[in-house]
Amino acid sequence: MERICVLGLGYIGLPTAVTLALGGFSVCGVDTQSAVVEGLRAGRTSLVEPGLDEALAEALASGRLVFSRELPEADAFIITVQTPHLTQSDGTRAADLRFVEAAARDTAARLKPGNLVVLESTVPPGTCRRLETWLSEGSGLAADEFHVAHCPERVIPGRILRELAGNDRIVGARTEAAAHLACGLYRRVATGGRLRVTDDITAEMCKLVENTFRDINIAYANELSLVAEKLGIDVFRLIELANCHPRVNILTPGVGVGGHCIAVDPWFIHGLFPDDTPLVAAARRVNDQKPLRVADAVWSRLPPGARVCVLGLAYKPDVDDLRESPSLVLCHALRARGAAVAACEPHTAAAAVDGFDNIPLEAALSYDFLVLAVGHTAFEARRADIAARPHYDCVGMLAADNRS
Ligand SMILES: NC(=O)c1ccc[n+]([C@@H]2O[C@H](COP(=O)([O-])OP(=O)(O)OC[C@H]3O[C@@H](n4cnc5c(N)ncnc54)[C@H](O)[C@@H]3O)[C@@H](O)[C@H]2O)c1
Repeated sequence: MERICVLGLGYIGLPTAVTLALGGFSVCGVDTQSAVVEGLRAGRTSLVEPGLDEALAEALASGRLVFSRELPEADAFIITVQTPHLTQSDGTRAADLRFVEAAARDTAARLKPGNLVVLESTVPPGTCRRLETWLSEGSGLAADEFHVAHCPERVIPGRILRELAGNDRIVGARTEAAAHLACGLYRRVATGGRLRVTDDITAEMCKLVENTFRDINIAYANELSLVAEKLGIDVFRLIELANCHPRVNILTPGVGVGGHCIAVDPWFIHGLFPDDTPLVAAARRVNDQKPLRVADAVWSRLPPGARVCVLGLAYKPDVDDLRESPSLVLCHALRARGAAVAACEPHTAAAAVDGFDNIPLEAALSYDFLVLAVGHTAFEARRADIAARPHYDCVGMLAADNRS
């Protein structure tokens, strides 16, 4: 296992390719988007991730990392393409595996006996078995002539490089031989964490279960925020006190739940087992409704004709990722109610996002009403100025001094 091909150079694939190259492997990173490949060849990435620019420069300088639109021959192929969800005819959602299937078919064209294919993308249970079929059909090889493993990615944006090395890693495979090969590969880069070997279906479920746990817990916190508002109490203080109990750990409410993982992955379980997972669907609904409830609360406080600015569009603090952004749902909901809405997302250079002007914080501070939707450090630094304006605080930053 010396030559690795990483398919997909997004938030996960690029740091993975860089880490593998710095770990001594000879790596080819492949993406279907020419602009991504061209930019990376020139050492440029549009991803905001601490340490990534420097690590990319070091990996390129080592000569062990190249980028291409074409797959090379390799000993191992790692698939890190996106796995969004799609809405089914009954309104529920399920995994959209088209990108995984396309990556599998591309890999199959290069597959040789003895190769390892690792699926890192988050997928519903049973996908590795389908991957084997796609690879076998495309390559003409029998399933026992190559190896498939699932190593779901569990890093958090903002700490990706550190967590790639430091996190425990689930290594799931149908066969012992595949697990053994995958462990050999990850042992060289996951130097600070343990490799935990299991079967492929348990590994697939493990990632989904982790994120679904968080989604359900946040849904509870978001429900509490609605109740607390009606009671006239501070939900953040309430949760802080409840969490003093040694066996209680309620997560934090917010404007909703976004991003490519927590807002999506629960559907991969519910889509397959709708009758068995009403709780999973209810949590999704609660979290999807939250920005609309915030819009109602803000709208009821807005003086006629007031200009409102939503502070933060990213799905969590200090990242640029706008996927499944609940803040954007909030912006649209406020506009639909008749408000004049702008946004302030300091991690995005675009002058407008989804039809909303993206203005600097300095300009936002002259707006009539501010909605603090994401706890970016840039906002924390101007906490007093934000608090001095009429506002609605979804993240509990502005009154934090009143707690202990
Ligand atoms: N972003 C996260 O924080 C995170 C964390 C853990 C797990 N994951 C999972 O990792 C996977 C990847 O997520 P991401 O955020 O990196 O996605 P992304 O959208 O940032 O990147 C995916 C990349 O794959 C490329 N691609 C698509 N099809 C391809 C193909 N056939 N061949 C080569 N490249 C192809 C796309 O052009 C894109 O650049 C998803 O399953 C996601 O759920 C993401």
